[in-house]
Amino acid sequence: MVHLLDKDIERVLFSEEDLSRRVGEIAGEITRDYAGREPLLVSVLRGSFVFMADLVRKIELPCTVDFMAVSSYGVGTSSSGQVKIVKDLSENIEGRDLIVVEDILDSGNTLSYLLRLLEARHPASVRLCTLLDKPSRRVKPVELHYSGFSIPDYFVVGYGLDYAEKYRNLPYIGVLKPSVYGGE
Ligand code: IMP
Ligand code: MG
Repeated sequence: MVHLLDKDIERVLFSEEDLSRRVGEIAGEITRDYAGREPLLVSVLRGSFVFMADLVRKIELPCTVDFMAVSSYGVGTSSSGQVKIVKDLSENIEGRDLIVVEDILDSGNTLSYLLRLLEARHPASVRLCTLLDKPSRRVKPVELHYSGFSIPDYFVVGYGLDYAEKYRNLPYIGVLKPSVYGGE
């Protein structure tokens, strides 16, 4: 860790090397599973932009990308069940094989809403790919096809994940010091 923001990090959970290796493995699974097809990868902004950029470069298939931004009306470190579409997709997804790319699956509130909305547009198939999963926090069940790492209930930042919009530019994933968000 040699980054100006390191001082706010309690410890590193996944190094750049860990992330690169695991992202390569997931890309390999997708490449095998979608052989002969042309998936459309949908990145849920903003948290998944770093994961998406690395993942897509390791998928050895013709594929297209699109972006969607949602905001869940959460305060601090948790989301609520209310989700607002801030930016919709540019592509027509009817008949397409979608892979929804997320940074982290937490309560499942954001994703269960989003998946319902996308399915109403009649894609051929929808699968969910998340870099991180916090199963102990799940409130809404969500079917997960590709998952990078399962983690305990820590609040993590880096590699796209933020706290108050900051720390997305850390190249690793770390646990934020509770003192940064007003904890003990
Ligand atoms: P959910 O609706 O509770 O599943 O929340 C999903 C969203 O909450 C993610 O896309 C993240 O933006 C955010 N989130 C959940 N846990 C964390 C975390 O540990 N660090 C940073 N963002 C998080
Ligand atoms: Mg966020």
